Amino acid sequence: MKILVTGGAGFIGSNFIRYLLEKYNDYQVVNLDKLTYAGNLENLRDIEKDPNYEFIKGDIGDAGLVEEILQRGIEIIINFAAESHVDRSIEDPQVFIKTNVLGTQTLLDAGRKQGISRFIQISTDEVYGSLGATGYFTESTPLAPNSPYSASKASADLLVRAYCMSYGFPAIISRCSNNYGSYQFPEKLIPLVITNALEGKELPVYGDGLNIRDWIYVDDHSRALDLVLHQGRLGEIYNIGGENERTNLDIVKFIVKELRKPESLITFVKDRPGHDRRYAIDSSKLRKELGWKSQTDFQGGLRETIRWYLDNRKWWEKVKSGEYREYYTRMYGNRST
Ligand code: NAD
Ligand code: DAU
Repeated sequence: MKILVTGGAGFIGSNFIRYLLEKYNDYQVVNLDKLTYAGNLENLRDIEKDPNYEFIKGDIGDAGLVEEILQRGIEIIINFAAESHVDRSIEDPQVFIKTNVLGTQTLLDAGRKQGISRFIQISTDEVYGSLGATGYFTESTPLAPNSPYSASKASADLLVRAYCMSYGFPAIISRCSNNYGSYQFPEKLIPLVITNALEGKELPVYGDGLNIRDWIYVDDHSRALDLVLHQGRLGEIYNIGGENERTNLDIVKFIVKELRKPESLITFVKDRPGHDRRYAIDSSKLRKELGWKSQTDFQGGLRETIRWYLDNRKWWEKVKSGEYREYYTRMYGNRST
């Protein structure tokens, strides 16, 4: 089986590629990634020489390149590639539309032309908007995105749906809640707080810190995607959630305590505009239809994640200093593809 994974040099994509290569020794994975600021080949250093793995630097919006890659016998596309940070989307939405909407459409067109057998669109629970104190997002909750990021992801989802309906395109959409784990870029809450605390820097908490997210360990997300990929029904949407609702403040306090740092580092800052109050996923469809179950309890997973950042200080120091961007040039600069 030959699979194109896009955005595989990012946080979830790199964890998923490692998971696939470990589990299936007859799958060949091609990773197409533009290496934006969020793409880091050091995330894949341990598998870069695996004969079943190939990296191609490029943009999912480059139709010629995508078609050329698919012609190498790709049967499946799993689209992780995206601009993924909400705050950046509020600062500058354009690249979010370009990559998340137009890039997805380019992949859909190329996949259709090639006649691929499966397309998995990695979407997000943020497309559903914000919940009040009660209730859960189900697959039929109306789309109500509140940030340019979530609007771009919702737009991509609608295109995927339209391709299924209009062309019988073999796609599935997954919508996951907030992931945490190793190799997460330290602009997102958990790695930002861990690394800032280790550096003795302020820990910025937006607004009152009582916004709620439903946290899932990245390996549990990979296991869910494995099931969706192999057993999911075409044309369907599957929600994936950790059933782990926490306020941001609880998370920050837990990290501070684990690292034995003072709570005085916690600094309340101006709220994110349009800040969604609460996310909570109902994953019963995934559990009942595909037999998925989250395997990682939140405190254990978070302790393991903190341990990873303690053990891999070089990784995040290079990311924070920007030095990681030199890796591609060092590694691939003198090689022609
Ligand atoms: P990330 O920002 O860590 O990684 C994104 C990757 O996509 C990077 O390697 C980047 O270089 C690449 N990329 C960006 N634009 C590209 C383009 N035009 N062409 C090719 N590659 C490009 O993101 P992540 O947190 O790993 O998220 C991966 C996917 O999962 C995204 O689609 C995101 O919307 C979705 N998602 C994320 C979460 C989460 O909690 N992080 C939760 C649910 C869904
Ligand atoms: O729900 C899934 C989504 O989770 C994904 O689709 C996104 O790609 C991913 O970035 C994430 O979005 P969030 O906005 O929920 O994640 P972030 O880590 O940016 O923020 C988590 C919460 O913490 C949110 O309520 C904002 C808050 N926050 C964030 C940062 C970076 C702070 O209070 N301080 C911060 O410095």
